Amino acid sequence: MKFFIDTANLDQIREAQDMGILDGVTTNPSLMAKEGITGDQNVINHYKAICDIVDDNVSAEVIATTFAEIVKEGEALAALNPKIVVKVPMIKDGVKAIKHFSSKGIKTNCTLIFSAGQALLAAKAGATYVSPFLGRLDDISSDGLILIEDIRTIFDNYGYETQILAASIRGPLHIVNCAKLGADVITAPLAAIAGLLKHPLTDSGLATFLADHAKAAGK
Ligand code: E4P
Repeated sequence: MKFFIDTANLDQIREAQDMGILDGVTTNPSLMAKEGITGDQNVINHYKAICDIVDDNVSAEVIATTFAEIVKEGEALAALNPKIVVKVPMIKDGVKAIKHFSSKGIKTNCTLIFSAGQALLAAKAGATYVSPFLGRLDDISSDGLILIEDIRTIFDNYGYETQILAASIRGPLHIVNCAKLGADVITAPLAAIAGLLKHPLTDSGLATFLADHAKAAGK
């Protein structure tokens, strides 16, 4: 399973990259705004800075919502760096644009997926990734994990190569459950990824090992 970090914060991206487990980055306009990145050129420079840190898979989201504008913006983003994945919203013109990008070999991430039908459409259009938003479904008392399971079944039934990129992850248990259900990728905040490290028995076990070692060494 691939691990992406869901942030536009360069320090957090560096920290995850330094752990040696990072396969990519997802951003969105809200995450860019949270880092205070505004203005077209600053946004572009920020994508370039992210590409300099990670090995591959940097999702850059288009702001446009019409086919012609999505194509123009997406092609410009894709031209920045071969690591760029053009992130396109699940709307009718977005699906059409994904088909266009796919025919030109431009990688895409279809975002804001909340139903299996939307994922199926994006896969048919040739999306590289679909991003079902787990946490936002959980937030409205709908089980996001069931959506992952349904998309996995549909993609496997027909051999779609589109990868399931589980998004809107809230914590480590979401990541583990996505892995159990066969999601190809998770994108999560650094805190959720770091949460996978934690277990009290690991901490107490290590403390005992170190104490016993020190005692045996006469320290
Ligand atoms: C996906 O690519 C989105 O950036 C993200 O996962 C949305 O998560 P949120 O619901 O925490 O905003």
